[in-house]
Amino acid sequence: MLCSCKQACMNKAHELLTSFKARFGTGASVYRAPGRVNLIGEHTDYNDGYVLPAAIGFSCWVGIAPRDDHKLVLYSKNFGEAREAYLNQLGVRGVGHWADYPLGVAWALQEAGYRLRGANIYIAGDVPVGAGLSSSAAIEVSTGYALLSLLTAAQAIDRTKLALLCQRAENEYVGMRCGIMDQFVSCQGQAGHALFLDCRSLEYRALKLPPQVRLVICNTMVKHKLQAGEYNVRRAECEEAVRKLASALPGTRSLRDVTMEQLMQHRGLLSDTLYRRSRHVITENERVKEVADAFETGRMERLREVMAASHRSLRDDYEVSCRELDAMVEIAGRQQGVYGARMTGGGFGGCTINFVDVEHAVEFQRRVAAEYESTIGLRPDIYICEASQGAELAEAMAENLPKVTH
Ligand code: GLA
Repeated sequence: MLCSCKQACMNKAHELLTSFKARFGTGASVYRAPGRVNLIGEHTDYNDGYVLPAAIGFSCWVGIAPRDDHKLVLYSKNFGEAREAYLNQLGVRGVGHWADYPLGVAWALQEAGYRLRGANIYIAGDVPVGAGLSSSAAIEVSTGYALLSLLTAAQAIDRTKLALLCQRAENEYVGMRCGIMDQFVSCQGQAGHALFLDCRSLEYRALKLPPQVRLVICNTMVKHKLQAGEYNVRRAECEEAVRKLASALPGTRSLRDVTMEQLMQHRGLLSDTLYRRSRHVITENERVKEVADAFETGRMERLREVMAASHRSLRDDYEVSCRELDAMVEIAGRQQGVYGARMTGGGFGGCTINFVDVEHAVEFQRRVAAEYESTIGLRPDIYICEASQGAELAEAMAENLPKVTH
């Protein structure tokens, strides 16, 4: 299927083709995969819970053409740097470089049995890096999709399998123990919809976003160093809570299996910290269902309190917010036409997500930017977004391709 974002997408694809040709001297096929914003369900994915993300208009773009050797030659426009590696010498671990993401995906695909072909790959992304909008999932999925497209027709690509392999690349090759949410929505996102995803079964349904609502993303412009380390610590805490609770509740595999009543009943098994971490996950799962229900029934007035409760829970129980995120949410809450606001993504900086009435979105953008700047002293980027399509072909293979010998 050809890209849904029409003109802007075609322009980007042509730009990429021109750059590809200038660098590698041939035509290419161009694929894109989007970043994401999570509407609700934070730190629930690696607890087998529910999430409600949407793919957004920022994407990573990949031009690819096959080579007749077994080498991947990568060029990143964002980093202005080239890297190459033989497919049989990828190692099992990255080296802390941007190329870990595409090479990690090639590694994971090969581990899963795909016999990849050598390729020239040109990568250019416009997902803000370090803002919690999943620039990493976008680069993983776009390269994975492009590499697979050299082997098989795009329609034959199993998107859920690709998402799982991209997650494996990030977990094992890059070393970040992320859940499945980002890669999944980058693969399966649908224009105009959020995905209600059960991270245990990977069943999902697409929820149409109400036409009067805009997704407004406010970037605090800060990224605290704690981010990566604390993420893995939170994950380990949840696993420890499960081990302790399972001693009283046999069959418990993850916090998904525990109810609030059970948590309260067995509170004595947990330290105060583990109790609060668990309470966040259990209550957040319920909030995902409430937001999905509000969208489906059009009862938008319920969103405000649910979103506020999610933010409080992330701030006080899960302890992943920060001064800038709290200020952004507080400022947003005072504006007209806001249905709900909270931090989004892993935390410790990055962005907030705001549901804003279409009539008020531009004014919201202006006022929040001014108030945040006067409170925090940084000028925020504020994006009025629409939910976009997941990974797709943007431009089919063009002329001048190298002849591939097998
Ligand atoms: C990061 C991870 C996701 C998810 C969120 C928190 O974005 O990549 O898997 O855990 O944090 O909800």
